[in-house]
Amino acid sequence: MAKARSVHACSECGGRAPKWQGQCPHCGAWNTLVESVAAPPPKRFESVAGARSAIVPLAGVEPRAVERMATGIAEFDRVLGGGLVAGGVVLLGGDPGIGKSTLLLQACAALGATQRTLYVTGEESVEQVALRARRLGLVGAPVELLAEVQLEAIVAAIGSAEPGVVVVDSIQTLYTEALASAPGSVSQVRECAAQLTRLAKQRGTVVIFVGHVTKEGAIAGPRVLEHIVDTVLYFEGDPHSSFRLVRAIKNRFGAANELGVFGMTERGLRGIANPSALFLSQHADPVPGAAIVATLEGSRPLLVEIQALVDPALGGPPRRLAVGLDPQRLALLLAVLHRHGGVEVGGFDVFVNAVGGVRIGEPAADLPVLLAVSSSLRNKPLPAKSLVFGEVGLAGEIRPVQRGQERIREAAKLGFRRALVPAANRPKHPLEGIEVVPVERVADALDFLRRA
Ligand code: TYD
Ligand code: MG
Repeated sequence: MAKARSVHACSECGGRAPKWQGQCPHCGAWNTLVESVAAPPPKRFESVAGARSAIVPLAGVEPRAVERMATGIAEFDRVLGGGLVAGGVVLLGGDPGIGKSTLLLQACAALGATQRTLYVTGEESVEQVALRARRLGLVGAPVELLAEVQLEAIVAAIGSAEPGVVVVDSIQTLYTEALASAPGSVSQVRECAAQLTRLAKQRGTVVIFVGHVTKEGAIAGPRVLEHIVDTVLYFEGDPHSSFRLVRAIKNRFGAANELGVFGMTERGLRGIANPSALFLSQHADPVPGAAIVATLEGSRPLLVEIQALVDPALGGPPRRLAVGLDPQRLALLLAVLHRHGGVEVGGFDVFVNAVGGVRIGEPAADLPVLLAVSSSLRNKPLPAKSLVFGEVGLAGEIRPVQRGQERIREAAKLGFRRALVPAANRPKHPLEGIEVVPVERVADALDFLRRA
């Protein structure tokens, strides 16, 4: 095969150089030259479908209903927005060992019943994959395997086998002959993914890339692919617990931020259909420094315990640490707590943690963080069986969150008896089994703790 010419382009100024050098010869920036394939300029512009593009009125376009292929794993289908879509390209990212290969082998086994399914393994031998299949109880599954890392060979195999679904595990192991850089480098990862994406669109094949999340460096993480693919899923969760969360960060075919919850068992990943009470640590009695929030992750409310520890700083500047929550937001909340609640934590270390390795991006966790910090500082627990949510504003006001009533109902179902909520989220009619305490200002919420 003729070797395509490669060029080095500067990521700062776009200038080109024939070979790699440390400094861009055009703008003088350092370490910005990235190798890429020198593509000839297109003769005429073509759309993805290959036909010549024409201007059409929006009203005249009849949207095609997307047909979904269910993977047979309900929680996986949920994050995908109902299943895989023909020609759709999915990136599944996550730390090594979190369960990416396990989940995809399980999905392939189910998809194999209706589609020709090809699992390209670049990291493990076919024997290792077969060993995992045995462990998962999927020995006779209709899945075809290909141990290959060279892009051209994979493209040829897809061309002759014509599978409906292709899994590439992992994208970081692939390389194309067109580039001289090493497998795993930004240019290799990007070029291999781009070529396979083009192939997926042309053939209507589903392509799923596995990408390892890596530390910054020569090895490219899955982030560089996020804009190329249709759907980006990331595994999250505490590696020491058996729970695994898969979150849709981007989805052209469904809602982003949807969450799938799994348990890692001896026989692979099992979906957990009712995860709302999973992220509560089970204390017999209420403890200081804990507040339970109802977050809305995707379409389901999840109850998560927020823990805070406030302890005198022994020498040196006080430390602020947030696990599963935004550290900037913590700094802001501590300032609001001081200014509008009169609670001073200047001489204290403050640590906050969302239990179970779940990551909360929602401002609904503001008020629980604030109360957990005050509760730890005063060594006074919040009342048993109480739920807290609400966004905190810089002026000390408590702002409403979306779908408040749904959150309160979920807590009531799980036996919570009291809910501290923004006044604007107060339900119009009393809810059975749960008392709702509306608050308007930070000071009201601190009163609730004082009276507890
Ligand atoms: P794996 O899918 O290989 O992770 P990744 O592809 O993301 O690197 O998962 C590996 C971990 O999962 C490993 O620590 C073993 C564990 N595991 C189970 O607990 N049960 C199982 O049935 C399987 C296959 C793996
Ligand atoms: Mg793997």
